[in-house]
Order: sequence, then C-alpha cells, then structure tokens
Amino acid sequence: RSTKFYDFKVQTTRITKLCNTKDIPTINGMYPGPVVYAQEDDKIIVRVTNESPYNITIHWHGIRQRLSCWYDGPSYITQCPIQTGQNFTYEFTLVQQKGTFFWHAHVSWLRATVYGAIVVYPKKGVPYPFKFPYEEHIIILDFYKIDVVPGKTYLLRIINAALNQEHFFAIANHKLTIIEVDAEYTKPLITDRVMLGPGQTLNVLVTADQPIARYSMAMGPYQSARNVSFQNISSIAYFQYYGARANDLSLPAALPRFDDNLAVKTVMDGLRSLNPVAVPKEIDKNLFLTIGLNVQKCRSKNPQKDCQAKGGGVMAASMNNISFIKPNISILEAYYKNINGYFTQDFPGVPLKFYDFVNGAPNNAPNDTNSLNGTRTYVLDYGTRVQLILQDTGTISTENHPIHLHGYSFYVVGYGTGNYDPEIANFNLVDPPYMNTIGVPVGGWAAIRFIADNPGAWFMHCHLEIHLSWGLSVVFIVKNGDGPLERLPHPPADLPKC
Ligand code: C2O
Repeated sequence: RSTKFYDFKVQTTRITKLCNTKDIPTINGMYPGPVVYAQEDDKIIVRVTNESPYNITIHWHGIRQRLSCWYDGPSYITQCPIQTGQNFTYEFTLVQQKGTFFWHAHVSWLRATVYGAIVVYPKKGVPYPFKFPYEEHIIILDFYKIDVVPGKTYLLRIINAALNQEHFFAIANHKLTIIEVDAEYTKPLITDRVMLGPGQTLNVLVTADQPIARYSMAMGPYQSARNVSFQNISSIAYFQYYGARANDLSLPAALPRFDDNLAVKTVMDGLRSLNPVAVPKEIDKNLFLTIGLNVQKCRSKNPQKDCQAKGGGVMAASMNNISFIKPNISILEAYYKNINGYFTQDFPGVPLKFYDFVNGAPNNAPNDTNSLNGTRTYVLDYGTRVQLILQDTGTISTENHPIHLHGYSFYVVGYGTGNYDPEIANFNLVDPPYMNTIGVPVGGWAAIRFIADNPGAWFMHCHLEIHLSWGLSVVFIVKNGDGPLERLPHPPADLPKC
C-alpha cells in the first residue's frame, strides 16, 4: 500500500465559459479541479491551503472514512471551515474501496465550482471483473467530448457534479453496460440510458461497435417534481469515431422526457451487487423517515423579499418534519469533547407529526404544514444493524431526492412507488446494490440497510444543494465500540477552529 500526496490550493480564478468571465473559487486554478488517483487500500493525504476569501471544507464523497470521521469534511458536522490563510491536511485510507468517487467543497454553495474526480484502481494484480477496457474517460456532467477507436471498448466514469440538477445520459445507437455504481461493482446491466442525481457516480462500458460516425452523446434534465414545468434542453457532445467525417452525424441520442420516472425505475430495478458481502438479514433499528419540502411561517422582517412561498411563507425541507439547522461548531467536536448546547440527541425515529404524510400524492396536503427547526441527531450504538425506510412525501410537490449518507455505503434492499407498505414490499436480501446515494423515487420509498460500525458523526442529506440549504438532512452519531479498532481517534492537531 502506498501513500498519495496532493496539494490543494484554494484560489480565486478568473474563468471564461460561454463568453462569461467570472472570478470563481477553484483548486489550483482548475475547474473542474484536479483528479485524485490512487489504488485500493492506499493512504491519501491532501493538504488544503486556503488562499481564497471563502471559508472552505472538502468532502470525499463515497469514501467511507473508516475510523477517520475527522477528515470527512461537511462543515459544522465534522469540522469547522478552513478560514482564509489557514490550512488543514486531510488524511485517510481507502479501506477496501476502489472505483469512481467525487470530491467537492462542503460548505455553503461552493461545490458549484470546487470539485473533481477521484479514481481508485484495483490493487496490483487484481483484475477488473469485466474485460479490461482499452481506454477510460472521466465524464463530469457536463464537460466532455471523447474520441474513440472503432471496435474498442471504453470505460466511462460518469459523475454528476451539478448542484441542483438530476441528469439523464445516453449515447445515440450505443448500449451502456453499467458495471459500477457509487464505486461498487454491479452485475453488468445493459441499458439505453442512465440517470444520475447530483453526487452519484456510475461506471459504464461502451463498445464502439457501430458504423464509423459521430454519435450524439447527450445529457438531459430529469425533473421529477410534477408541478415544475421544464424545458427539455440537452447538452450535446460527441462519441466520435476516428475516421468519421464531419457530416457522418447520428440522430440525437434518445433521452427520456424530463419527467420519465419509469425510465429511472427500470434501471434501478435492474441493479444488483456483483459481490454482496454482508447484507444485514436481521435489523436492530428500523427508522421511518419522511422526506419532503414544506412551507414554514415567515419570520423575516422583510417578508416582501424573503417570504415568496405559498401563502407568504418560506420554503423549508425536512426529515420527519425536522428541518436541520447547522450549529456553529462542529457536531463531531461537540460530541467528542462533551460540549453541551450545540445539538440534541432526540431526532425522532418516526415522523414527528403524521399530517403531512399524504400518500405520496402532490398538492393535496393542508396548507399549514410546518416543520420544526432543530439540530437533532440520532444516536446509534456501535454495530447496530440499521434499516431506514425513506419515504418521499408530497406536501409541496413530490420529487426524486438523491439522499446521500456519509461514512457508509448501504444496501438498497427495497424500492417502490407510492407509500411504503410492509405487507407488500418486496425486499432483495441477496444481491441488492451497494450505494451511498439513493434517489428516493417520486412519491415513493426506498429501504436501505447498513451496519453502524464506523464511529463518528455522519451527515445524511439530500444532495440537491437547495434542499440541503432548506434543512433536508439529519446527523447520525455512531458511538465507539469496545474493541481497539472500533474507536474514533483523537482529533487532529490542525483541525480548524470556528
Ligand atoms: Cu457529496 Cu454531503 O455530500
């Protein structure tokens, strides 16, 4: 196992894109930022020096941070931001992890420009479970164009780095074979298109087995909220065979309509883990979490400006009717040092009130639905086998929410439309996909399982940045176990202060 060092300088960089010149925060002046390369089980050390006027943290999305919660990165959850002129060195090991990951800033909305890919190769001598691809490309939606050699197979590592947009992706006339989701192998699944929520990563194989031409490679919005009308604009690039002439053009790639929930469900239904290791068959804790948007009473002194939601309220989002408020020191630090007053340990395992749990149907809820603000955490003993039923609710609108859990991958054992009904729900406890971000279907539910064997404070939230800012999140505190390899180490000496 080796150690990979990276130097990340947070800078303000002048970038011109589509004739627009802007000063944006970047890492080392690059947008997207540098790719972090490593091998399974490697140690990664990234020294982040903040030369920008912004407060920053970096999160290593999908990396489970085994016994290294201090380096996970979400601001005010595991650390205070790195302030201007300061630095912090992230240091973690990729314990049994390989594949495509995504790093991004995890403070305010900075991940709009501060992000990049992480590519982790299998250990030396360990082959891919599929024919080794000729070449690979990283496709960060939406920066790409690739040249391909006829007859060859390509590994495309696709990352949705968008702030607030779920995307379909397809290549005209070509099948995509999904072989990895969220950096875990899947049984090969052949499909015409895929959908990625923000934060999701997906590896597909594509064989250039069509007549020589330029094939449209397209992404289009997946906008599941039923009360939002959306213009179906796709960004077009090319999967371009060497030797193709300029006018050898394919028809546009066939993308589903922006609200094609079935296209999303079809792929999800087909996903299976390649090597499921430990799907928890039994569970110790079964939590039911409603997820939804709601309207809160306006408390602003400037309602004209701030209170534009239905009935003069403000938009909020909640889990079990709790809208999460970030504290002003990190929860992990407060927990570790026993500092009182920054969070509570009373996040409810069932919705606080049931009245906005409205059969997954949009727009028929009472107008007075509210949520409580709070910094509530849910505490888990080490080793607890947890099941979460994530239920989309329809107070304002129903939509697909990409729910991301830090510190763990989880098995998606069930998935369905409408209300979760334990009588009829069908669970796959044999080879469910192992993911870290699950798009909870529109007005539907997903059941996920994991074993809480990584101590720390772990954020779980909607990866649509706007919903995160409205409070669609919760923090799980996982206590230390008794064994020496079951304890969170002391905080690093250079941990930023608030
Ligand atoms: Cu990719 Cu909490 O984030």
